[in-house]
Amino acid sequence: MTETTTLKDLFIDELRDIYHAERQLVRALPKLAKAATSPDLREAIESHLAETEEQVSRIEQAFEMIDEPAKTKTCSGMLGIVEEGSDVIKENEKGAALDAGIIAGAQRAEHYEMAAYGTIMAWARALGHDDVAELLSLSLEEEKAADQKLTELAESGLNEAARNGRDESRQPAMAGTTAGNSNGNGKGRGASSRQRGGHR
Ligand SMILES: [Fe+2]
Repeated sequence: MTETTTLKDLFIDELRDIYHAERQLVRALPKLAKAATSPDLREAIESHLAETEEQVSRIEQAFEMIDEPAKTKTCSGMLGIVEEGSDVIKENEKGAALDAGIIAGAQRAEHYEMAAYGTIMAWARALGHDDVAELLSLSLEEEKAADQKLTELAESGLNEAARNGRDESRQPAMAGTTAGNSNGNGKGRGASSRQRGGHR
């Protein structure tokens, strides 16, 4: 790590990082889908799993385009996000509140990836690899759409169900709280703080 000196080195490192992140998600998303109660949420996660598998192969293509072997580098950021997701599953029974917690975790993953792809694409262009930037822009668009879909699910009633369904989870307040924070578009300001007071 200390010998990372050029933008090219950073670029390759970042590609390895997102390669590891995407591969972790290929393993984690089925668990989230299985834990979801809402059929719409399960379906959204499953369809993003199919996209994620495609994203893994796009990264492999990107490595080929720059004549580098496809290697991973431990992505601690995604490891943490995935671990938090499995904690939420472990700590909550199935139900609307857990669904809200799953959405919150999945959106953290999407936002991490959106940031990573944005950086990688900018560095690819700076290094004259417009083809790589173009290829990975497809993945970025998929992440954005997945994030948007999760926001819609949360706003279409899952958050509300989580708030009302205190018997569906041992920790409804916690999960409802995180999901209200879902989209980063500034809309859910009130919901992003404590929903706990609303139903205690
Ligand atoms: Fe992804």
